Amino acid sequence: MARKKIALIGSGMIGGTLAHLAGMKELGDVVLFDIADGIPQGKGLDIAESSPVDGFNANYSGASDYAAIEGADVCIVTAGVPRKPGMSRDDLLGINLKVMEQVGAGIKKYAPNAFVICITNPLDAMVWALQKFSGLPKNMVVGMAGVLDSARFRYFLAQEFNVSVEDVTGFVLGGHGDTMVPLARYSTVGGIPLPDLVEMGWCTKERLEEIIQRTRDGGAEIVGLLKTGSAYYAPAASAILMAESFLKDKKRVLPCAAHLTGQYGVKDMYVGVPTVIGAGGVERIIEIDLNAPEKAAFDKSVGAVAGLCEACMNIAPALK
Ligand code: APR
Repeated sequence: MARKKIALIGSGMIGGTLAHLAGMKELGDVVLFDIADGIPQGKGLDIAESSPVDGFNANYSGASDYAAIEGADVCIVTAGVPRKPGMSRDDLLGINLKVMEQVGAGIKKYAPNAFVICITNPLDAMVWALQKFSGLPKNMVVGMAGVLDSARFRYFLAQEFNVSVEDVTGFVLGGHGDTMVPLARYSTVGGIPLPDLVEMGWCTKERLEEIIQRTRDGGAEIVGLLKTGSAYYAPAASAILMAESFLKDKKRVLPCAAHLTGQYGVKDMYVGVPTVIGAGGVERIIEIDLNAPEKAAFDKSVGAVAGLCEACMNIAPALK
């Protein structure tokens, strides 16, 4: 069986980490793409030179021409710019929207059968625009946010309770931002829901709320520490998990920004929900029952995503 081909559109901090992880996990051959000439070639060669040491087989190449991604099985998109001091949200939207237009055209032309995972922020709006610009099937274009957000939640919970991260599950719904909705009721330690753990005296309700808030602010916490960039190890690991589930048809149940067609009362928007990812892309969207406060928090989050999509349509009327 020929090796799979993984195209990384954007070879910055997350792109480089994705390239390294894809090799270490032997997911396939890797093409790094970037407009910054030399960066994708240099990172690709550097990682390839680590392969004899770590013992993995993967070809690496770097390119600034979309023809290099031809026939890719998976495209992971991190191309774009981060928000800089003095830049408004609309400025950032405008710049990254233009990038999504170029990336969408490149994928449409050279990798129309790929499973596309978008990471570029603001995530829920960028993945929505990328699907429209690329014209790829909606079940083949997803956004990476929920795996990362729930990983942060799981890590904080495992630290709090002094248990293995492996035995903690975390359930996060909604947009990737301040309004995300970590759901305590559906998050567990060894199968025991968090509200039960509160009743059992493992922590107070207030402490659990603090952990939930820290999860919402997880991205900002890393930016505050790094000062010159945003998180990349955990975001890359999260996207690789999604790519692996697709490539190996694992059918993992993973929270992703998926295209909704009425589920949770949302139409033609990408919002974080639990999905099943297999060889068919997003094979299933899982719709759970929400109680009144959860529904209110989810609707608020959807409202924030809708606002971003609206702003995108004002900048690029073709998206309407
Ligand atoms: N086409 C291809 N690559 C581009 C384009 C473009 N039009 N515009 C910018 N890039 C490249 C940059 O040259 C850079 O190498 O995208 C890369 C982005 O890398 P970083 O700035 O290091 O950003 P990174 O930390 O990898 O995050 C990427 O993911 O989590 C989000 O908010 C984050 O939107 C950001 C994205």
